[in-house]
Amino acid sequence: MVETIPSFGLGTFRVEAAKTAKAVESALQIGYRHIDTAQYYNNEAAVGQGVRDSGIARDDIWVTTKVWWERLQRDALIASLKDSHAKLDIGTIDLALVHWPSPKGAVPIAETLAALQEAQKLGLIRHYGVSNFTAPLLEEALKAPGGREIVTNQIEVSPFLANRSLVDATQRLGVTVTAYMPLGEGRAHKDSTIRSIADKHGATPAQVTFAWLLARKIVVLSASTNAEHQQVNWDAQKLKLDAEDIAKIDTLDEGRRNANPSFAPKW
Ligand SMILES: NC(=O)c1ccc[n+]([C@@H]2O[C@H](COP(=O)([O-])OP(=O)(O)OC[C@H]3O[C@@H](n4cnc5c(N)ncnc54)[C@H](OP(=O)(O)O)[C@@H]3O)[C@@H](O)[C@H]2O)c1
Repeated sequence: MVETIPSFGLGTFRVEAAKTAKAVESALQIGYRHIDTAQYYNNEAAVGQGVRDSGIARDDIWVTTKVWWERLQRDALIASLKDSHAKLDIGTIDLALVHWPSPKGAVPIAETLAALQEAQKLGLIRHYGVSNFTAPLLEEALKAPGGREIVTNQIEVSPFLANRSLVDATQRLGVTVTAYMPLGEGRAHKDSTIRSIADKHGATPAQVTFAWLLARKIVVLSASTNAEHQQVNWDAQKLKLDAEDIAKIDTLDEGRRNANPSFAPKW
């Protein structure tokens, strides 16, 4: 059984179901042991298929899914996780996240946390956590019954959105940060600063970006359906940046957020 969230995972957002099983299977063959999906991505069944097809022991793999913000009331949340559990068809789900906080606190976080604990007792999930929570929302959640069990806050972090105050607050509260959209919607590949650091190390811009996140003790999610890209990304874990590289990447922060839908909290 994987007991803590593995530091490098495969994302599956915007990966069509038809390509997902193969992408998951090839990532697992490379060595990935952490796969991230969501009810919202409509590909949970294919994620489960990829896990089963890989031939790798189920207990060696960590699978995360998410509950959409419209399903955070007790009954809706349990129904959502029963659905995810059936679609994934891999036994107990390792981690379930609240995908976005309930807009304007319409559903109290205490109700959602109680439902997540119930889902644990039902054997649907092993752990729970949150995503897209601001520092005040995370603090409120941590104070509610069961809040201390929150294992991660999954948020957008890239060189162009270092998200420093939220990352620092989350880590200070003892919660692991998981980064999504780490490449800034493809911008990292073209950035001249990141490219020059990549050249210096004989690495790629994606690898430099992931190494910068790992140096900040942030769990990385990278998505790719291309096995070569998956291998390159995985190998980023071997790259060690020096203090000068990190300082240069730190200057790229523009506070530029890609994921900011109408139902997002006030950042
Ligand atoms: N909690 C949330 O609200 C939330 C929001 C967004 C995302 N997420 C999660 O975070 C994951 C990561 O975010 P993301 O999907 O935006 O990931 P990303 O890794 O920043 O971007 C994925 C894109 O980058 C390309 N790519 C990846 N590695 C590459 C490489 N080495 N060289 C060239 N292109 C490369 C992929 O194309 P190819 O397939 O061609 O390689 C794909 O188009 C998602 O998949 C999802 O699981 C969560």
